[in-house]
Amino acid sequence: MINNYNLSDNDFNKLRDIIYKEAGIKLGDVKKILMQSRLIKRLRDLKLDNFTEYYEYLINNYEDEKINFINSITTNKTDFFRENDHFEYMKSKILPDFEKKKEKELRIWSAGCSTGEEPYTIAITLFEYFNGKVPPEFLILATDIDTQVLDKARDGNYAADHLSDVDPKYLKNYFTYNNSHKGDFYRVNDQLKNAVYFRRLNLLQDEYPMKKKFDIIFCRNVIIYFDRETQKKLFEKYHSYLKDDGYLLIGHSENITSITDRFSLAGRTIYRKVV
Ligand SMILES: C[S@@+](CC[C@H](N)C(=O)[O-])C[C@H]1O[C@@H](n2cnc3c(N)ncnc32)[C@H](O)[C@@H]1O
Repeated sequence: MINNYNLSDNDFNKLRDIIYKEAGIKLGDVKKILMQSRLIKRLRDLKLDNFTEYYEYLINNYEDEKINFINSITTNKTDFFRENDHFEYMKSKILPDFEKKKEKELRIWSAGCSTGEEPYTIAITLFEYFNGKVPPEFLILATDIDTQVLDKARDGNYAADHLSDVDPKYLKNYFTYNNSHKGDFYRVNDQLKNAVYFRRLNLLQDEYPMKKKFDIIFCRNVIIYFDRETQKKLFEKYHSYLKDDGYLLIGHSENITSITDRFSLAGRTIYRKVV
């Protein structure tokens, strides 16, 4: 039989209902081609001929295949020092204020961390700011729903051209250059690697396992894929997971003001918990 890798409207509707239910990701009609192209590799790996067969396979092997399905659909674009004014704000305002409070514990959460560039940038920002004297009890938790990106994040090996905008001083201090038949790479050093805890977490789940509150939550370029209702629920959760003077940072193209009044604006897409 000749493979038919065209996704019908019917299969698209059934598959997008599943990704919405499982991950909160809302795919409009224009995203049909995107879904098709992202799932083709999965069809090939499973030696399936068309999307109807894939849908049936997914339903019949739901608990196992769900993970691969989600991994295929998520958008994972990210970068080191992305939307850099957030890291500048950390250095100029959040960390100096933290120091004045003379607290020991600094807890930061990168929610929707993708392949790790965001939490590793947070770690570099901390090491640079504290000049080797990072608070003894600091934590950078980095979570994502996608197990594949988490594997890459834990590995911490990045193609050199992906780091071309990173200050050479940081490359020297926090990475080790390596090359193989696959090309030039920089691997994060142990200091950076040991500073970040990567965990799988679906932001949609009712309860999160974290017991203590956070000083800063980065949730950047994640809520853009959710609908209003999901965003509202998530902001309520973030409100309860932040310390009283805590910060929520969202992506530059995202908006919070029309959805919740539980945060006040402190800078460009930088919000503070209202108590
Ligand atoms: C575009 S990346 C953003 C990465 C990084 N925060 C940044 O701004 O560069 C969005 C990430 O959100 C994750 N994501 C999507 N839905 C999620 C969910 N329900 N729970 C947890 N993570 C989710 C995706 O897997 C993806 O890695």
